[in-house]
Amino acid sequence: METQPLKGKIAFITGSASGIGQGIALRFAKEGAHIACCDLNLEGAEKTAQEIKSLGQQALAIQLDVVKSKNVESAVRQVHDHFGKIDILVNSAGIIKANFITDVPESIWDAIIDVDLKGTFLCIKEVAKYMVEQKSGKIINISSKSGKKGGLWLAAYSSAKFGVVGLTQSVATDLAPFHINVNAICPGNVFSTPMWDLLDKEYSVKLGVPPEQVRKIYVEKVPLGRGCTVEDITNLAVFLASTQSDYMTGQAINLTGGQEVH
Ligand SMILES: NC(=O)c1ccc[n+]([C@@H]2O[C@H](COP(=O)([O-])OP(=O)(O)OC[C@H]3O[C@@H](n4cnc5c(N)ncnc54)[C@H](O)[C@@H]3O)[C@@H](O)[C@H]2O)c1
Repeated sequence: METQPLKGKIAFITGSASGIGQGIALRFAKEGAHIACCDLNLEGAEKTAQEIKSLGQQALAIQLDVVKSKNVESAVRQVHDHFGKIDILVNSAGIIKANFITDVPESIWDAIIDVDLKGTFLCIKEVAKYMVEQKSGKIINISSKSGKKGGLWLAAYSSAKFGVVGLTQSVATDLAPFHINVNAICPGNVFSTPMWDLLDKEYSVKLGVPPEQVRKIYVEKVPLGRGCTVEDITNLAVFLASTQSDYMTGQAINLTGGQEVH
């Protein structure tokens, strides 16, 4: 791959205040991109933007609630007005909650489907308007291994993440004539993220083991014998955002150490 495969590209990244979205934002900046850091958590987005500026790249921090269509529309317009184009969209904003099926509150179901699925749809819808005009673009959706195989206690989350895979395939077909690639990444467990700080506690109660044993149980399911890292994801995301992936669209790529193969 060339030295800076994303040189001069503009990336709109949701969920970039923390975890995977933040990791992708920083890595894309190192690869030459300028970043719109969008998140519900404005303080976190500002911190990511500050780090990007210290790398010598441009960054804009925007408070964005991906479930609010008007908010998405204005954030996308603001980024386009500021940078003059949007080359890459990464949908990483997401939430999770583990519940046995009879204990899933309707409000939790709605919130997870809203943020993880509808939010991805709304961001694609608005950004694609500009990408269609410019006849180019790269869209990367963060699904999950739970988007390929239903996860224990994850009815709402798995449903949303399967939805993201269907959305990816469908939109890839819509946007192919405009040279816009749409792909999804399906990571395994990324233990370094705030999402797993929450899951440790929830799974500990459900499995009846101390929180520190939870990760061991989950790692034992992985043929390559370790959790997924943010770096594993950013390596793939750079490929999907670059011209190297120009012939790939509609794919949902497993990054699970061999745990999921379909
Ligand atoms: N952590 C894992 O093990 C793992 C595995 C597979 C997939 N994923 C997926 O990766 C993505 C990122 O997860 P993460 O692990 O980095 O979690 P995280 O909690 O660190 O990051 C999620 C980010 O989304 C933001 N967010 C939440 N609701 C939002 C909303 N309505 N509008 C805008 N931003 C919102 C949060 O503020 C946070 O910064 C999620 O879609 C998640 O489902 C995570």
